[in-house]
Amino acid sequence: MSVRIECRDWVMSIVFDRPDKKNAITAAMYQSIADALGAAAGSRDVRAVLLRGNAECFTAGNDLEDFLKNPPHAEDTPVFRFLQALTTFEKPLLAAPCGVAVGVGVTMLLHCDLVYAGDNARLSLPFVQLGLCPEAASSLLLPALAGHQRATEKLLLGEPFGADEARELRLVNRVLPAAEAIGFAHAQAARIAALPPQAVRTTKRLLRQAWRDPIAQQMNAENAAFRQLLTSPEAREAFTAFLEKRKPDFSRFA
Ligand code: COA
Repeated sequence: MSVRIECRDWVMSIVFDRPDKKNAITAAMYQSIADALGAAAGSRDVRAVLLRGNAECFTAGNDLEDFLKNPPHAEDTPVFRFLQALTTFEKPLLAAPCGVAVGVGVTMLLHCDLVYAGDNARLSLPFVQLGLCPEAASSLLLPALAGHQRATEKLLLGEPFGADEARELRLVNRVLPAAEAIGFAHAQAARIAALPPQAVRTTKRLLRQAWRDPIAQQMNAENAAFRQLLTSPEAREAFTAFLEKRKPDFSRFA
């Protein structure tokens, strides 16, 4: 099983569960997560959702082999359905990233309302290193949170950063010992779930309202560029190099 759904205390946990591949997310997993968010949105029994992996690994991002074999070519593909479900989700969304968090493992945090990271979290946004560009409106939201220069450091250079820096960048509310982060995040989700649900949803909607249209516009622009780059020779070289466990060589590209 690669995505596990658990429901307790009015909280749905969506668990990335593919430890042998560092919880890298395949198209099938994107579909399962999008379906789970859809079910959570429509269920009276779910009042908050927690995204998590385990105490050692959140997710290594898009499965590169899957992307190479089946690049998403249209808006109606699982990865874009997932992004749509994530960015329009109306109930509180929490995350507990511990260990590895790469690519979409970081950009999804920008759409969470509360983020509690393990002190072992190692985050990175290596889109350019992979011949790609930012997604999930991260090219809008990260500079808004962290400022242009720091966002550029992370999105252009793809420099990895730890949990404390993620908190400084305002991506994370609190850093906890890795063994405690998931439990703490679940307890916070359960606290929210015990509050009056309509007041909670209304507050989230108001907090996010000003960003709704800009996020949708930026994602449209990013998705078009991302789809084009995904099948470029640069991306092919980057993905193949990863799978062949060698350094990529971009010297032949103009
Ligand atoms: N897609 C596909 N497979 C992945 C993957 C990904 N994004 N990330 C890790 N894996 C696989 C590895 O190929 C390896 O598989 P194998 O055992 O069959 O060889 C396995 O997961 C373990 O990964 P490994 O690289 O040995 O672990 P590590 O602890 O040394 O490094 C990472 C962890 C996350 C730093 C490293 O795997 C990595 O850089 N992954 C790619 C991340 C990435 O670029 N994601 C896309 C963002 S858009």
